[in-house]
Amino acid sequence: KGNITFTILKPDAVKNQNIGNILADINAGGFRIVGMKYTRLRREEAEAFYGIHRERPFFKDLVDFMTSGPIVVAVLEKENAVEEFRTLIGNTDPQKADEGTIRAKYAKSIDANAVHGSDSDENARLESSFFFAQSELFTEEGGVQISYPQQV
Ligand code: CMP
Repeated sequence: KGNITFTILKPDAVKNQNIGNILADINAGGFRIVGMKYTRLRREEAEAFYGIHRERPFFKDLVDFMTSGPIVVAVLEKENAVEEFRTLIGNTDPQKADEGTIRAKYAKSIDANAVHGSDSDENARLESSFFFAQSELFTEEGGVQISYPQQV
């Protein structure tokens, strides 16, 4: 049981053949994988997923990078998952990430920073619903309820 968070193993992590290493760290950190897929974002999808950053100066570079290759997306479950996962991955800027964190070990730059982690429970559910149907999520107890945004 526990809360969920959502992660992306970004194009740099995939290209550098770090999928296995990062998933091992995630499991060693006590997270259960309740959903996972290998996919690639189209430009419009990346722009929608990162819509909150649309006005930021790094938006175009972010979308360019996130569409540059395949990614792994996953939903993870643990007590206090959002905060625990942010501790496991370390600072957004790998130069500032604590030793031993996933970004310190596998990230090269603030864009190519290996992994994404949700910043709140609400965003974890929103981001999960962007990639996964309810039927694609499997918890020990047989169901995590993620809320789907209203379609218009
Ligand atoms: P993430 O938290 O996954 O989602 C937004 C991404 O934008 C972030 O990871 C970074 O990879 C990227 N980014 C690039 N520049 C910045 C910046 N100055 N501040 C925050 N995020 C940035």
